[in-house]
Amino acid sequence: MPEPLRVGVLVSGTGSNLQALIDACRAGAIPAEVVLVISNVPKAFALERARAGGIPAVVVDHRAHSTRAAFEAALKEALDAHRVQLICLAGFLRILSAEFVATFAGRIMNIHPALLPAFGGKGMYGERVHRAVLASGARESGCTVHFVTAEPDGGPIITRATVPVEAQDTPATLAARVAREEHRLYPLAVRWFAEGRFRLEGDRVAILSPEGAAFASEPR
Ligand code: GRF
Repeated sequence: MPEPLRVGVLVSGTGSNLQALIDACRAGAIPAEVVLVISNVPKAFALERARAGGIPAVVVDHRAHSTRAAFEAALKEALDAHRVQLICLAGFLRILSAEFVATFAGRIMNIHPALLPAFGGKGMYGERVHRAVLASGARESGCTVHFVTAEPDGGPIITRATVPVEAQDTPATLAARVAREEHRLYPLAVRWFAEGRFRLEGDRVAILSPEGAAFASEPR
């Protein structure tokens, strides 16, 4: 058996996606292990989840660093110390520099609570996303897992899941429906990564079947 993929999760908040990743790894659903959780917010509940799971939980507070370069150097030091192979952003509310992203090129994923490329970019996070979706009159929303580049929410899309927008939805009810899909989709994307089933073709991601054939649509 190969060693499980070593995953580091970067968080700023509640950590329900972190929990989904921890649970999927522990259940043996993906050949991966969450070996480190880093929060830039000292009080983030996600840190409690990590500790409850016996996973090293580190605070790297951006406010304690005078420059973004110093903050990112501290992130890198922790990630390297735990030999992290894949970084999963899960509600991490800092934008990473082009330099940091280049250091981990093709090894940083993010999950976004809408169907990118719509409703993404700087300032589009949390409830703001669901408010914008509702204001637009869209009939569908969902979530997107993508590789991280220097452009916020702009990297190659790995996979998306769709949910209906109901007439009586509030940002909270829509967020809850999207979150259920997030918790299914993020572990699936990490599984594909751990199984080496991605091929980056320019800014497109092809997902390979277990036999190595590229899928036009999503395999399960
Ligand atoms: C999720 O909606 C995720 O898509 C976005 O931030 C939220 C994090 O929620 N990037 P949680 O902390 O995982 O519960």
